[in-house]
Amino acid sequence: MADFHNKVVYQIYPKSFKDANGDGFGDLAGVIEKLDYLAELGVDYLWLTPFFLSPQNDNGYDVADYRRIDPSFGTMAEVEKLIDEAGKRGLGLMFDMVFNHTSTEHEWFQRALAGEEKYQEYYIFREGEPDQPPTNWASKFGGPAWAYAPEVGKWYLHLFDKTQADLNWENPEVRRELQEVLKFWKEKGIKGFRFDVVNLISKPAEFADDMEGDGRRFYTDGRHVHEFLQEMVRESGIEGMVTVGEMSSTTLENCIRYSCPQDKELSMVFNFHHLKVDYKDGDKWQLMPPDIKSLKELFARWQEGMQAGQGWNATFWCNHDQPRAVSRFGDEGTWRKKSAKMLGACIHLMRGTPYIYQGEEIGMTNAGYASIDQYRDVESLNYYEILCREGKSSAEALAILAARSRDNGRTPMQWSAEAYAGFSSHEPWLLPPDNYKKINVEAARQDKDSIFAFYQQLIRLRHEREIIAEGKISFLEKKNEDVIAYERTLGAERLVVLCNFRGREVSLKEKSLQDYQAEGLHRVLGNYEDVGQALRPYEVVVLANS
Ligand code: GLC
Repeated sequence: MADFHNKVVYQIYPKSFKDANGDGFGDLAGVIEKLDYLAELGVDYLWLTPFFLSPQNDNGYDVADYRRIDPSFGTMAEVEKLIDEAGKRGLGLMFDMVFNHTSTEHEWFQRALAGEEKYQEYYIFREGEPDQPPTNWASKFGGPAWAYAPEVGKWYLHLFDKTQADLNWENPEVRRELQEVLKFWKEKGIKGFRFDVVNLISKPAEFADDMEGDGRRFYTDGRHVHEFLQEMVRESGIEGMVTVGEMSSTTLENCIRYSCPQDKELSMVFNFHHLKVDYKDGDKWQLMPPDIKSLKELFARWQEGMQAGQGWNATFWCNHDQPRAVSRFGDEGTWRKKSAKMLGACIHLMRGTPYIYQGEEIGMTNAGYASIDQYRDVESLNYYEILCREGKSSAEALAILAARSRDNGRTPMQWSAEAYAGFSSHEPWLLPPDNYKKINVEAARQDKDSIFAFYQQLIRLRHEREIIAEGKISFLEKKNEDVIAYERTLGAERLVVLCNFRGREVSLKEKSLQDYQAEGLHRVLGNYEDVGQALRPYEVVVLANS
């Protein structure tokens, strides 16, 4: 059994987790302060999003030096203390490697701009007239994917912000540099890595216009990506560490290759298909309610498909790029607690390693901002402009951001009912939603029936029951539009998970709850106290025969 199968990862966005020095920004000392809280929750690994030297145009995903700590987060001594203190509590650290691109403030890019050819080869520069980008590709943050650098009279590729220049992985020097970064952090004693948009690293041999889309089909799961990953793991000596790749617009076939043990690439992968079921016509900036039927079909296809190919999923609803799950797939009003628990159980009991994003374990909601001045995220600010330019009124554009902005997931962690949610003594860089007076860690701790307590149980169950880590999965109730349900099996053991995604009572179609009980299954977990006749609003019930 791979040792990450029965583990749970907690994601920390340090800028919003806990501000220890009172400047309004979360920091590493804040993370250290809260390690006991994380140990109490019971998770195994902590993934920290980037805190390396950065101009922070994309909140640290624009790295200017992979080996230095951004002073706004703290010092190297604090990183070392964090590794040490986490280790004492049985928590392994995973750091976030942003290897598809660097900040344009990185020394390599600066030397490229100064005319050093060696460093121009580190990036993707192309000759061209200042008014004629090499291709028509679009940046994922809006606008063109190329920027003109007058210093050298060339264009450079940036799939994200124009201050995030794509690295040229075709150049073996670049690959070696990045391997050295991994060795550096491994030496420091961290246990794993998360690789940012790592399926975009291999670009095509020829750069051509995309007549059908924004260019992504030319570089997504690109021609050398598997080779590059295998080499990276082999040469940097990180095999055996826990690794997760963030895969943008990927395919099942590729994800099997990225994560099956025999190919020696990564331990597991994130894919995002299930988080597009509320994108109208596949467009993030057009609203529609989530389509639960396609959500279920996607889960079934990926869970059963990865199982068949021996791949391994990272299962998750939330991260720093996503709105809050309870606001999106649950009900942040009347049924907040019930729906947050149901959502947690739904992915924690699947086949894969579950990730909890800070605040999810207390049912934090979307930000609820009503003014553009409250937003900070580069993507949100860009799209607000784009949406207004396309003819939306400011109110319409704001309604879209309220549902879709990445800032929804980046509001400060709600620790208490004190000012600024107990996150900081100073006005934070991004404001918490008003509901922090009610939704906070302190309140959850006083409530035996809290979402936090339920997550503790989910984690404990995974640690205790091998069937959750290792059992086979098959989906049930495939025709039921209201329910996501599946069965895990391990030898003679069975575990059935039934989730109602509606705020009303719904019935099961294949077998009733009584039928399952007649088969010898009994309740091991749920968000109601007993097993009812049908599934009650947002009910999850977990049944097992042992
Ligand atoms: C990933 C990160 C996101 C970042 C982007 C570019 O999607 O999760 O926050 O903006 O990569 O690095």
